[in-house]
Formats: sequence, structure tokens, C-alpha cells
Amino acid sequence: GKRMTVPAIRGRKQDGVTAQPVVMLTAYTMRMAQLLDPHCEMLLVGDSLGQVIYGLPSTVPVTMDMMCAHGAAVVRGSWHALVAVDMPFGSYEGSPEQAFASASRILKESGCAAVKLEGGEAMAPTVDFLTKRGIPVIGHVGLTPQAVNVLGGYGARGKSEAEAAKIVGDARAVADAGAFCLVVEGVMEAIADAVTAAIPVPTIGIGASSRCDGQVLVTEDMLGLFERTPRFVKRYADLANEIGAAAAAYREQVLDRSFPTPDQTYRPKS
Ligand code: KIV
Ligand code: NA
Repeated sequence: GKRMTVPAIRGRKQDGVTAQPVVMLTAYTMRMAQLLDPHCEMLLVGDSLGQVIYGLPSTVPVTMDMMCAHGAAVVRGSWHALVAVDMPFGSYEGSPEQAFASASRILKESGCAAVKLEGGEAMAPTVDFLTKRGIPVIGHVGLTPQAVNVLGGYGARGKSEAEAAKIVGDARAVADAGAFCLVVEGVMEAIADAVTAAIPVPTIGIGASSRCDGQVLVTEDMLGLFERTPRFVKRYADLANEIGAAAAAYREQVLDRSFPTPDQTYRPKS
């Protein structure tokens, strides 16, 4: 089969109606990409890999090298989903030209088809610049984790009228500038509803209610690999306990020498 395309994703929403929601999950590694790929329209190599893979305190320290390397791994592990890679903090905000240099490097080194960048009105000229030069862009509004130092935390956005109106304006600006879909993160349901109604391209929600044209989650959260997850995460598996139990069983068998057995042992054929 052929990989999902940007026009196919954008085309999921026709005259404001999305018959089939867009399914997206994060992936950072080849093997995870292989497992998720058949079930997703898009795989996102999120800069959440900063916390999930590298143990960093936020996405702010994530580098271009990290995004390129993990992007390439996910492209190698997938064949059906469109792969999008997050532009890391500091790689695009300075100017449209800086953004083009960074985004083109990400596309060349990873083989991905699109980039995602955070921000609203202020980033609209950059979204336009990239799109007109052959780089499809996914927008990201509402809670924008790269702005944690400005926002002061990861709480839901849009709790005041003014903030809600700003998020809808940001969404419009990014969509008008040519983004082919828009991640909406950490907002009240009414705002997700307003944003989804306001723009012609699909909204992909995370902590943004069911009133979006698609959904995305951090895969490790959804798999139950972390003790603490945000309220909007639903756990579809309990892998932390499974992995802990497997490691404990392995330890037990190494200690009592019941592993390896003859089945796992090289011996001359008799
Ligand atoms: O970095 C990330 O994982 C993201 C999504 C969760 C939208 O940006
Ligand atoms: Na991100």
C-alpha cells in the first residue's frame, strides 16, 4: 500500500464535516512505529521524547539531532502512516528562514513528510513560508508545552473569555496560513468545539475533548508506562506492571539458575 498523504489527511474534513476521525499516536522508535503504523493515519515524532525517552524536565532542551534521529527511525519502521516530526524549541521561532533551514533538514534527514510547530498568530507567517516552499505544516495551539516557561505550567488553557478568543484566533491564523491540520492541546471542550467549527482543516485533540476531528495521545501514556499521567489520558494497557513483573521473573530465574533451560542453550546436535 501507499503511505497516507497530506491531501488525504486534509481531505478527511469536507465542508466542515469529518466522517472518519483522524487517528494519531506518538512514536519515537522503529519498533514502536512498526506496531502502531497499521492503526494510525499519522505517527507523530513528538518532542515529548525529551521527557519520555531522555528524562529531560521539559521539551525545551530537545535538539534537532534528537528529532532527526528519531524521525528517521520512525520512518524506517512505518509504511502506511504519514510521519510528522516536531520542530524543537529554538529551531524555528527566530524567523521563517530559520524555520525553513530547520524543517528542510528534518525532512531530508528523517524522510518524514511534515513538521509540526507550536504557536498561533505569531507563527502564521512561518507556516505560510514553509507551506509555500514545499514543507507541509501541522499547527499546535492551546497548551503549547515549549512555552512552559511563559505559561508557568501545563494547566488547561482558555479558562477566561479572552484566552478562549485568543486560542480560536490563533487556530484561524495558522489554518489560514496553510497548516493542513491542527493539534489542539489542553483546552476546555467549548474551545475545542469553537476551533473545530472555525477552521476548514482537521483538528487533532489531546486533552481537548471529543469535539475534534481526530485524536492524538503520547503512546507511552496510553500504554500505562508511567505512574502519573494527565487526567485526559486513558490507559489502554498496563505495561509498567507487565514489564516490572517480567523483570522480576527473569531475576528470580537467573538467581535460582532455572534460566536458561536447554531450550535456550547451544549444544552440539546429537
Ligand atoms: O510532543 C508531543 O508528543 C506532542 C503531542 C502530544 C501533540 O506534541
Ligand atoms: Na510536541
